[in-house]
Amino acid sequence: MVKINDNYNRLEGSYLFSTIAKKVGAYTKEHPDKRIIRLGIGDVTRPLPAAVIKALHLAVDEMADESTFKGYAPDKGYDFLRHAICENDFRQRGCDIDEDEIFVSDGAKPDSGNIQEIFSSDSSVAVCDPVYPVYVDSNVMAGRKISYLPCTAENGFKPQIPDREYDMIYICSPNNPTGCALTEYELQQWVDYAAGCGAVIIFDAAYEAYISEDGVPHSIYECRGARECAVELRSFSKNAGFTGLRLGYAVVPKELVRGGISLNSLWARRHATKYNGAPYIVQRAGEAVYSAEGKQQVRQLVDYYMENASYILSGLTKAGFEAFGGVNSPYVWMATPDGMSSWEFFDMLLERAGVVGTPGVGFGACGEGYFRLTSFGNSENTKEAVDRIVSLMA
Ligand code: MLT
Repeated sequence: MVKINDNYNRLEGSYLFSTIAKKVGAYTKEHPDKRIIRLGIGDVTRPLPAAVIKALHLAVDEMADESTFKGYAPDKGYDFLRHAICENDFRQRGCDIDEDEIFVSDGAKPDSGNIQEIFSSDSSVAVCDPVYPVYVDSNVMAGRKISYLPCTAENGFKPQIPDREYDMIYICSPNNPTGCALTEYELQQWVDYAAGCGAVIIFDAAYEAYISEDGVPHSIYECRGARECAVELRSFSKNAGFTGLRLGYAVVPKELVRGGISLNSLWARRHATKYNGAPYIVQRAGEAVYSAEGKQQVRQLVDYYMENASYILSGLTKAGFEAFGGVNSPYVWMATPDGMSSWEFFDMLLERAGVVGTPGVGFGACGEGYFRLTSFGNSENTKEAVDRIVSLMA
């Protein structure tokens, strides 16, 4: 009889956001009259930018015409998109990234789950605690043991350089869930550490568009030596609202070589085998994000969500809560009041305020006693949610 991959038995019962959706679903079924405000999963709510919609329409029309119809996309992505990415996300920031180092995909979540496949199953893995669950679960599925780097109020929610060597290190900055971002100096220390011990950093930059402060790097390639030790993952979801369209990319520099093997070639091999390329129409939509009007419209989207973040952060802080993030990030990370556990606070907010957030402990043991609110809702709902939380706790 076939045997299952036993590593799956080591996973948490269900994916965090599925558990929350089930709980909220059960509650709304019992209380259909209650208006619930959802600031849980980090899913965008604003419509796509007009430049993106226009590009989608044009590309759809091309698919209707025999002379412009497109079949399979190149598995690494169309040149027009990879060129726009290199120019805008990297060269304009002084980072030397070549089109051949870009692998277009259907998002940063699949990339962050899949990238571990090119590393040995006995590689040691370090992740932050709290952490985006995909890094952990994908490595557990592959049979790896995970070590946790505590990110607490004492260290400003920033992972400290460990005194032992790890092979793979996942860093997300600006961070999901804490909303805190590493400075250039701090990220450079990680790059130096990885270069020193031959580790590879998987750098998740999905929230880079939310960086508002100077001295916070938008790309790990702003650090010296990162081309030799880091992969970067990017997303069109949180900046341009592509959570439903799906588009992202991985950067795997050619200097990234381990055991004499180029990781760029390995990832190209894996990508070509398992992926048939992001849809043409979606890649045209991605290209439009880099047009002059696209950039301006994306800026407006990000500003809209950042106003929400600022309302959440200042509303909670004024009411006496301890709250973090929300400055370079769309997430606000609040300490639960009165020593409540994350899930107790979740249940109380759902039942008594009709507000959904994400229990910090769902992101790891160090998240216990914390709660994450996203700024991706519409502004009226966001304000009402904060006001409801503040008056409930008054
Ligand atoms: C989250 O809420 O953490 C996000 O939705 C994560 C994701 O983008 O998958």
